Amino acid sequence: MLARAIDAFLDHDANISFLADPKLKGSSSKGALRLKTMSVFSGGELLLNSIINVVMSGVTGNFKFTSDRNLVNPAFEIINVVGTGFKRTGYWSNYSGLSVSLPERLYERPANHSSFKQQLYPVVWPGETTKKPRGWVFPQNGRQLKIAVPSRVSFQDFVARVTGTDMFTGYCIDVFFAAVNLLPYAVPYQLIPYGDGRNNPSGTELEYDAAIGDIAITTNRTRMADFTQPYIESGLVVVAPIRKLSSSAWAFLRPFTREMWCLSGVFVLLGGAVVWILEHRINDDFRGPPSKQIISLTSRSIHAGERTIGALGRLMLPLWLFAVLVIKSSYTASLTSILTVQQLSSPVKGIQSLLKGDERIGYQQGSFARDYLVEQLGVQESRLVPLRLPEDYAKALNDGPRHGGVAAIVDERAYAELFLSTRCEFSIVGPEFTKNGWGFAFPKDSPLAIDMSTAILTLSENGDLQRIHDKWLLRSACSSQGAKLQVDRLPLTSFEGLFSLCGLACLVALLIYFTKMIYLFNQRYSEPESSGQSSRSRRLHMFLTFADEKEEATKARSISRETEWNSCTSMEQNASTFSSQRAS
Ligand code: GLY
Repeated sequence: MLARAIDAFLDHDANISFLADPKLKGSSSKGALRLKTMSVFSGGELLLNSIINVVMSGVTGNFKFTSDRNLVNPAFEIINVVGTGFKRTGYWSNYSGLSVSLPERLYERPANHSSFKQQLYPVVWPGETTKKPRGWVFPQNGRQLKIAVPSRVSFQDFVARVTGTDMFTGYCIDVFFAAVNLLPYAVPYQLIPYGDGRNNPSGTELEYDAAIGDIAITTNRTRMADFTQPYIESGLVVVAPIRKLSSSAWAFLRPFTREMWCLSGVFVLLGGAVVWILEHRINDDFRGPPSKQIISLTSRSIHAGERTIGALGRLMLPLWLFAVLVIKSSYTASLTSILTVQQLSSPVKGIQSLLKGDERIGYQQGSFARDYLVEQLGVQESRLVPLRLPEDYAKALNDGPRHGGVAAIVDERAYAELFLSTRCEFSIVGPEFTKNGWGFAFPKDSPLAIDMSTAILTLSENGDLQRIHDKWLLRSACSSQGAKLQVDRLPLTSFEGLFSLCGLACLVALLIYFTKMIYLFNQRYSEPESSGQSSRSRRLHMFLTFADEKEEATKARSISRETEWNSCTSMEQNASTFSSQRAS
């Protein structure tokens, strides 16, 4: 094409001459580029026109430029270089895009881009494979990553070495494979077992490019390595034997805690006492022999509404009725649940009750749980018993601390759940008391740790992590449905507000009552004859008698005293009138 253009250019008898460029003249001659010594080809415009006007038919087909200097119907053949040879993969033209059809044929058809299939023949990639590579190989100077995997002897659903090979299976391995497959580049690696195969390896000092498996992310370990995001949560829990609570003759006492029962009793008596005080002077039910009054006293506080006639008693009534209603309903609901739902109980209630005692505690041999119990919780080493296999766990728990076993086992939730899935006589007691998770370990500042974390998050979000979990770990022989580990006793705290309100109401009612009584008492006994030399104790005695007296009796006595007083006064008046009359 260029030869054609040059021929056309020369046909115009053009001179090939070079001129100094005035634009370059003023340039400084300093430096390596001496621009002002350069010349410009004087026939450039003509040569460009000669090129643009070339029309020819070459090996690539018809050759021509459009007015905007683009090739007319450009087309390229796409080849796949394989070793020293090549094969055609397809074509590209700006008319059809990628296609396996010849562009010339496509140009003959009317332009309809949607009808052209954007496809090529399969590409053969290095390694004689048609599988598309995901990107660049992770830079390791051509060597494979050495990835350590623990040779577990127990709980092999998490990690297990296939006997006689360097292959591994298990939940953690599947998570690793799934995460590596999501990396945007290939990571050549080799899995290397660590541990003696007889004990679970502790895995705190590893010299590998990475470590995968059931490795808990702990503070100590994060000082030595970078961890990925956790792919499973597995904090420490307490596993202990449990027994079913049999229904007993005293089951009716279970709904309330001991404190709740005591306080309820005290409030029944106090409520009764308050009602007695308020009603004693005006209500015949609260008068008479002490035995009758005691019955009234207790029954009044429960059935406060019946035949209460005093204004203060009626004021307290709605509040007491409400309190009794709440307590009665809560008791009924709790008793129903206790009698209908299977209840389980354990002498160990959780880590706190375990720490208070001095019984032996089991832990998984090789686990970080031992260091945590000793260093963080201050458990004496002599109390700790290493256990290797799930069978050892069961035996130690069944034997109990008195027969060479343990009171409970502290282990990570993941192992505990797997252990409990086939052993219904044990259970996790109390809450999880640490918040650990498992992750894959990489050397400090490794970019792989970040990319693997992203991959784990993707697995978590797209549900693959849960699917892998369910494949390996979802099984439960024990139906925990309907079983409750702790009796849901109603504690005192649930009723504190109610009791406080009732107490306050009692106090206010008593305050009003006694203020009124003192006022009435002072009114009645303020006469000179009764206030004369009466001592304090005499006055108190008088007050109690006054308070004990029925109101009608007081009124009657007061009226008779007034009548007496009035008659005395009139007699005195009559007498004085009579004496004055006699005098006169
Ligand atoms: N999951 C056992 C450990 O990390 O120690």
